[in-house]
Amino acid sequence: MQRLLVTGGAGFIGSNFVHHVIENTDAHVTVLDKLTYAGNEASLAGLPTDRLRFVHGDIVDAELVDGLFADADAVVHYAAESHNDNSLHDPRPFLDTNIIGTYTLLEAARRHDRRFHHISTDEVYGDLELDDPDRFTESTPYNPSSPYSSTKAGSDLLVRAWVRSFGVQATISNCSNNYGPYQHVEKFIPRQITNVIRGIRPKLYGAGLNVRDWIHADDHSSAVLTILGKGEIGETYLIGADGEKDNKSVVELILTQMGQPADAYDHVTDRAGHDLRYAIDSSKLRADLGWKPKFSDFESGLASTIAWYRDNEQWWAPSKDATESFYASKGQ
Ligand SMILES: NC(=O)c1ccc[n+]([C@@H]2O[C@H](COP(=O)([O-])OP(=O)(O)OC[C@H]3O[C@@H](n4cnc5c(N)ncnc54)[C@H](O)[C@@H]3O)[C@@H](O)[C@H]2O)c1
Repeated sequence: MQRLLVTGGAGFIGSNFVHHVIENTDAHVTVLDKLTYAGNEASLAGLPTDRLRFVHGDIVDAELVDGLFADADAVVHYAAESHNDNSLHDPRPFLDTNIIGTYTLLEAARRHDRRFHHISTDEVYGDLELDDPDRFTESTPYNPSSPYSSTKAGSDLLVRAWVRSFGVQATISNCSNNYGPYQHVEKFIPRQITNVIRGIRPKLYGAGLNVRDWIHADDHSSAVLTILGKGEIGETYLIGADGEKDNKSVVELILTQMGQPADAYDHVTDRAGHDLRYAIDSSKLRADLGWKPKFSDFESGLASTIAWYRDNEQWWAPSKDATESFYASKGQ
């Protein structure tokens, strides 16, 4: 796979993947990204220009997509509208990008017979009770809660149908919540870290008992490369690093690691329909493809993420004020 096309490669996880590919393989990468508010070309700064090409464009643009597929050996599809809160206020862009965009890429994969890997989320499975002993597996029924997760579920089903009906060489991965560098300050962990840096008290939705299963974005990237190389066509793989933590503990850990009292945060109105708990069983990926995470310790991964936000204020500062004004207008 010498020529990779990466959609959404200027976003949080996509840009981490591009860094990972450049550092760990010889592949040449083309990034296709619309540069929505969530995309930032600066996340790719410093990467070698002889191995990275950036194309500013939309995945629903069939003509553009067709030309890029013609020049690629394989495609990894990260582009999405990805923020649950936004999907509650304005669902339409989620349908356009997550559904029509994925359809547009699948049609190109079919025409050009290209290897296609679709990036998805564990949120397609809905949520678990806090005391449920079970975790999500590849056979858990889909039960999405929000416009975001329902459009991701729809896109997963399109991929499965294009494999079965048209023989597209695709795989799917559903990953748990990511953290790490280059994540937009609207998201939970960077929002709290940058609040502390700015002297603003962190904000916790509701009582903060909701549990997320955290994985470092670099571990997500190594899992995707593993699936791209060794995954079986038509299969779905769950990606997770056994990182279950409730939101309250994460805020307290951030405060403690940043030298503040653990209780120096405020509670704000909870998100409508807020999923209680996500938990991933990634045994299939580990047993069948031999993958394992590097950051098995959340606390050290979090410390390196805090250090990155401290060192890269010029990357996140331009979007911080607008993000906090938006949350303030919603009472959050
Ligand atoms: N963030 C997480 O914790 C998480 C967990 C599991 C799965 N995922 C999935 O990973 C993928 C990436 O998530 P993220 O957190 O990096 O998202 P993000 O919002 O940070 O990045 C999305 C990127 O896609 C681009 N984009 C949006 N619409 C586009 C379009 N129509 N055409 C081309 N580019 C477009 C944006 O400009 C941005 O660069 C998504 O598919 C998401 O569902 C995310």
